[in-house]
Amino acid sequence: MLPPAPADHPTFSPLLPHLRTSIPGPGSQRLVETLARYECPAITARRARRREQSGVDQDPVVWSRAAGANVWDADDNRFVDLTAAFAVMGVGHGHPAVVAAARAQADLLIHGMGDVFPNAPRIHLMERLAQLAPGDLQHSILALTGAGAVEAALKTAAIATGRPGVIAFHGAYHGLGYGALAPTAYKRSFREPFIDQLNPRVTHVPFPGADGGPFDDSPQGAARALDYLAYLLDNPATGLADVGAVLVEPIQGRGGELVAPDAWLQGLRALCDKHNLLLIFDEIYTGFGRTGRWFACQHADVTPDLLCVGKALGGGAPVSAVIGTPEIMARWGQSTGEAIHTSTFLGNPLACAMALAALQVLEDEHLVQRAHDLGAWLRHRLDTLVAKHPQRLGPVRGRGLMLGLPVLDHRRQPDGAEALRLMGALLQRGFLILPSGVFGNVLALAPPFVISTTQLDAALDALDAALQAG
Ligand SMILES: Cc1ncc(COP(=O)(O)O)c(C=O)c1O
Repeated sequence: MLPPAPADHPTFSPLLPHLRTSIPGPGSQRLVETLARYECPAITARRARRREQSGVDQDPVVWSRAAGANVWDADDNRFVDLTAAFAVMGVGHGHPAVVAAARAQADLLIHGMGDVFPNAPRIHLMERLAQLAPGDLQHSILALTGAGAVEAALKTAAIATGRPGVIAFHGAYHGLGYGALAPTAYKRSFREPFIDQLNPRVTHVPFPGADGGPFDDSPQGAARALDYLAYLLDNPATGLADVGAVLVEPIQGRGGELVAPDAWLQGLRALCDKHNLLLIFDEIYTGFGRTGRWFACQHADVTPDLLCVGKALGGGAPVSAVIGTPEIMARWGQSTGEAIHTSTFLGNPLACAMALAALQVLEDEHLVQRAHDLGAWLRHRLDTLVAKHPQRLGPVRGRGLMLGLPVLDHRRQPDGAEALRLMGALLQRGFLILPSGVFGNVLALAPPFVISTTQLDAALDALDAALQAG
């Protein structure tokens, strides 16, 4: 039975797509031509590359404005956003409270002085993070990006344990900065050109997820994955004597919405305690309500030693953090006037004021509960779609409003090209969606929490039509 659907969000109109031009329209096309003249070609995927990968012959649309779950492009075409722009805009694009906070802060102080002269929003944001974070996670280091938060966590672990080795997981995505790229294992192409420059003390081991073969997300698969790691750690001959930390996403996002079994996360906690390792959770994707709890670790009732957050934290502004226990953070020692870890924009007041507003919105509007309820509803709708296309779609995975729909070929193998085709077909119908997973075959549904059931219904109808047209 379809779970009850939450009512429409009171602030945002549940607008459906409205396309005025072909996609991309002339306004987007002109801007993309300028982009091609001035941007390194490796950054934005253009027409030829897309055609080569998927047969979809189309440049991207250029965004111009957004509200709630809607985005408009340079030609005033209106789309429905199923991505929350990389899972950032949980509170919705242009939430009035976040916009008001940004305006008010811009009038007062746009930029501060990092570690030298603190500013009030930065201080209050860290106070708020300490209130929200589970367990005794009280002390933060702020950063600007997810990669920056992961790098701060890895430095903290190295300082706190004196051991530089890190355990990370197959399929992991922790960002692309040099520090974060070492534990990232999501795609070979991301690492290969830089492999000689990456921390060689990172060891990747199996992550038990839906696609994990012998290490799948069944109790047996999870036990096998845990047992393998225990074997590596128990035997110094395996070369892992210098490991100080285990870095894990409780749900792999870019890895394809792969949910780590609760028992496995609990087992990791126990292994870390046994071997005196720090357990670092990367909740950059999953944090702040995305999975229907404030943090995904709460589903498994596991508290990490260090918690990395980013994405949704800033309500659209670039700010991230690693939050640790006072005891662990104290290992950095006291600043003597020149911080050994900081940056020019650390604790930027504009970003911190927006983050404070976004966190308040999540709480005041009960959006974490909404992500849970709407997620249950959406999952049910997706299950119905899978039942209608059993040859083309695999079982839905994920939690809350972080759901993945695997696209399969006729041999039931991951079909990344077809997922890209569907993404293109949905764009042509006015819906923005991204593929995820190491094979790029999982359609990721991570919409703003304020999206309406009407908008989601229309998206699934469009997906159904695109599947039938394929
Ligand atoms: C789990 C996780 N960690 C880290 C990152 C990197 O964040 P950023 O792109 O802000 O550096 C991402 C980005 O998708 C992520 O999903």
